[in-house]
Parts: sequence; structure tokens; C-alpha cells
Amino acid sequence: MDMSKKQAPGTITVQSPGRINIIGEHTDYNDGFVLPAAIDKKITVAMRRNGTTNMANVTDTKQQKVFLFDLQNFAPREQGWHNYVMGVVHELQQLGAEIGGFDAEFEGDVPIGGGMSSSAALECSFAVALNELFNLGFDKWQLIKASQMAEHNFVGIKCGIMDQVASVMGKKDHVMLLDCRSLEFQYFPFELGDYQLLLLNSNVSHSLASSAYNTRRAECEEGVAILQKTSPGIVSLRDVTMEQLVACMGKMPETIFRRSHHVISENKRVLDATQAILAGDFKALGALVYQSHFSLQNDYKVSCPELDFLVEQTLGKDYVLGSRMMGGGFGGCTINILEKRRVAEFVELVSEEYRKRLGVDLTPIEVSIGDGTRCV
Ligand code: GLA
Repeated sequence: MDMSKKQAPGTITVQSPGRINIIGEHTDYNDGFVLPAAIDKKITVAMRRNGTTNMANVTDTKQQKVFLFDLQNFAPREQGWHNYVMGVVHELQQLGAEIGGFDAEFEGDVPIGGGMSSSAALECSFAVALNELFNLGFDKWQLIKASQMAEHNFVGIKCGIMDQVASVMGKKDHVMLLDCRSLEFQYFPFELGDYQLLLLNSNVSHSLASSAYNTRRAECEEGVAILQKTSPGIVSLRDVTMEQLVACMGKMPETIFRRSHHVISENKRVLDATQAILAGDFKALGALVYQSHFSLQNDYKVSCPELDFLVEQTLGKDYVLGSRMMGGGFGGCTINILEKRRVAEFVELVSEEYRKRLGVDLTPIEVSIGDGTRCV
């Protein structure tokens, strides 16, 4: 599909972006804080009614793959993008939506498996398009939550809500400080002066990603259960102070202590990073970004050799302020804050080292912060 071509009458076209996350990893499903932003890379879906009562006909334009399913009778498949689409339909139906037959084509430029949330972009673009096409009347928050639940129930990843919120609510040139408990958020202008963001896509995606994700979530719940024995008021790791955790150290397995330690320290880093951005103190921001990586690497254990190598390559380079793995982990991108004028030199150096050491080409990605989901 050429999205610039004129579409058939009655076609709704929706764009939903991927996201970056400045800091705050694996805190969202612990009721914590995150600092993401929508990016200029997105999924676009064009959708129209097809006159049937129950046939959905979905085309992945880039791969030239067509998928048909019966809206009254469908179930998750082993894997693939189909599950995100069916999952969204299922969740909206659960909310009472009457969805008739539709044809849809989608395409996008959010790298798959890059930790930039191509999945949330896909879910949210379909959720918003279906809402428009069938006048379902859901508000943004209902669509965000339905998209998240699609991933839980049809994809099998018990994800938090950060990606969907960032995709739908993002604002050009702003990061969002999101409280994943109250779902309140605040935009902050994000302008780095002589510095800029640069993503390095490791171009690896380890199969551990989904199983380990759910294990981490369960480990956090185990931490909460142990902590509740001494402090019954605790509902999630969000409620736990570092002092409380340390006091319970002897009462929990070391793994659980480390996972909890990451989450509690990461929540504080998000708030400190927001202050650093407000103060224009990019060095302080960069230091927090590094700390986040080492905590994800050593305590939460969701990094991998490729991501660690990319972060290590930045150490000792004074023009890089911060670097860390971004997203769920086990592959995808690092996010780096570095001097604008040194970007080309840095990319050349790191690409060569990465290829030499790991035999893989990395992809540098200069993202800019864009707006959230919109109908075009
Ligand atoms: C994935 C999930 C998010 C979040 C991040 C880690 O992107 O979809 O909900 O948990 O991992 O911060």
C-alpha cells in the first residue's frame, strides 16, 4: 500500500508511533515512574468497512502477507503480528464493541524487536482505527488499556502500560513523566542543546525476551509478598523505600532482593532525571542513564552481551554523557546522549568494534520526538 495514494471512500487512516524511554525500565508494572516519549517512527493503518458482518482482512503491506479471520471465532496463533491485531479486536469486543467486517492494510518504519515498541504502535493504531471506523465511542484510556491487555491475553507478555501511553499520548519535543499507578502524566520540553539522542540498534533479539519478562514480573510480586509480611500496607514495589528493602534483606532470596533493588532505585532515578532535565543538567542526566544500565545489567539481569558491549564502548569517551539498554531487554537498542558534533565519529568507531567483536552490523538511529497517535 502506498499510504500517500488516495484511499477508497470511507477509509480511516491512523498513525501510531513507537517510543523511546529516557529512563525508567521495568518500573511500569510495579506502579512506578517512567520517562518515555513518542518518536517520529510509526505504524500506519488504513481501514475500511468491507460490508460483511464478520470477516477481517488484514494486510501487512511490506511483507505482502494477508491474514483473514472470522470476527466471531478466532484464537491466538503461535506467534506473529496477527496476535496483536486479533488481541485488540478481542479486548474491544470484551468491552462490548460491535465490530463489523473490515479490510485493513498496515505498514511502518518502527524496527521490529528494536525495543522501540513496534508492538504498541501496531496495537494502538488498530485500536484507534477500529474506534473511529465503527464509532465505538471509547476514550483514549480505554483504548490504551485494551491495547495493553491484547498483549497480555493474545501475545502472552504481561507488559506494563508505558509503551501504549507513550504511543497514544506522546507530544512533539516533549518527554512524559508518567506515574504508572495514578496514570497522571506531565510533559517536559526535551531540548539537549549541544547534545542529542542516538539509538544504536544491536540488531539482535534473544528469544528469552518474553519468558524472562514474565519471570521478572513474577519475581517483583514475590518481593512484594515478602515485604508485606513486615509492612502490610505495601501494595507494590512503588511503596517500598530502600531502607525497608535493606531491612528485609535476610528474609528474601538474593535474586528477589536484586530485582526489587533495581525497581526501587530506578524509580528514584526517574524522578532525579526529570529534575536534571528541568535544570538543564545533562551531565547529571547522563550519569543516571549509566546507573540505570548497570542496575538492569547486574541486578535485574535483562541485558545481554551485545548491549553491554555497546555501553562499554562509550565509557571513557567524554563526549558521551550517558548510555543504556532501552526497553524490555535481551536485545534491541541502546539509547545514548552524546555531543552532536561527535556523532559521525562515534558511529564509525563503535560500528567497527561491534562488527569485529560480534560479527553483526549495528544500525544507528537518530530519532526525534514526535506526536502520539493521530488520524490522518
Ligand atoms: C517493554 C514493556 C513495557 C516496559 C518495558 C521495560 O517495553 O512493554 O511495559 O515494561 O518493556 O521498561
